[in-house]
Amino acid sequence: MSKVIAMAGKGGTGKTTISALLINYLRKKGMTPVLAVDADSNANLNELLGVEVEITIGQVRKELKEDMPPGMTRDQFMEMKVHQALIEETGFDLLVMGQPDGPGCYCAANQYLAMTMDHLAGNYPVIVVDNEAGMEHLSRMNLRDIDLLIVTSDPSARGIMTAKRISDLTAPLGVNIKKQCLVVNRAPEPTPEELRKKIDETVTASGLDLGGMIPASPELVNQELSGESYLKLDESVPAVKTAFEIFDRIIPAD
Ligand SMILES: Nc1ncnc2c1ncn2[C@@H]1O[C@H](COP(=O)(O)OP(=O)(O)OP(=O)(O)O)[C@@H](O)[C@H]1O
Ligand SMILES: [Mg+2]
Repeated sequence: MSKVIAMAGKGGTGKTTISALLINYLRKKGMTPVLAVDADSNANLNELLGVEVEITIGQVRKELKEDMPPGMTRDQFMEMKVHQALIEETGFDLLVMGQPDGPGCYCAANQYLAMTMDHLAGNYPVIVVDNEAGMEHLSRMNLRDIDLLIVTSDPSARGIMTAKRISDLTAPLGVNIKKQCLVVNRAPEPTPEELRKKIDETVTASGLDLGGMIPASPELVNQELSGESYLKLDESVPAVKTAFEIFDRIIPAD
């Protein structure tokens, strides 16, 4: 059974950054191959991983609405197309969901997609899903279970309350979430005592487990600016070290 780790959180709080660091971590731990799913319609995880995207699942879905090539069933066509959309790299494969359906959903295509995703998922010990704040793709992918939802927040009490609201929004999606953890990102170092207290109080009140705090990191900013892959970062970077320690704690063993 694959372990599904998904991201949630307000825009710009670090979902894609933490996804990339997590894929880096899983590769180092040999928990591979990882299936990385970019479920943000404005896909950009590939940039942090240093890979190019050719076709997205959204484009595959469009093609499914058109005529099948002769001699192929829809299942076979879908399977072939999803494999074309799968970007295979060392230690991980990346699948980009792309744009969601426009008006007039072609539900059969979504069903085929869900079936194919199910089939594909079985090949991976860990699946990492980077989301946009809305998380509509989660239901489309037919993910019934999420083993760990990482909810990201900026370092403020209001930010944490927002994280709590976002995590509550996952309930109507009908996905069974086994564990949720809050990761406070871009925390000032050292964290001012008042802020630390406020964060602790809010975390307790919200009932979210605090996975940890990742410091604001000039190295991460530079890595993004220079266009270098986040897979090249190692634990000599303090924010990476902290993120890896958090993953050690929150990723369910087995
Ligand atoms: N710990 C950090 N230190 C410094 N900069 C960071 C840190 N984490 C994220 N950033 C920067 O903040 C910006 C937003 O991060 P990121 O893209 O990961 O957020 P997101 O939650 O995926 O955003 P979106 O909702 O748009 O998908 C990026 O430019 C990223 O480099
Ligand atoms: Mg993102």
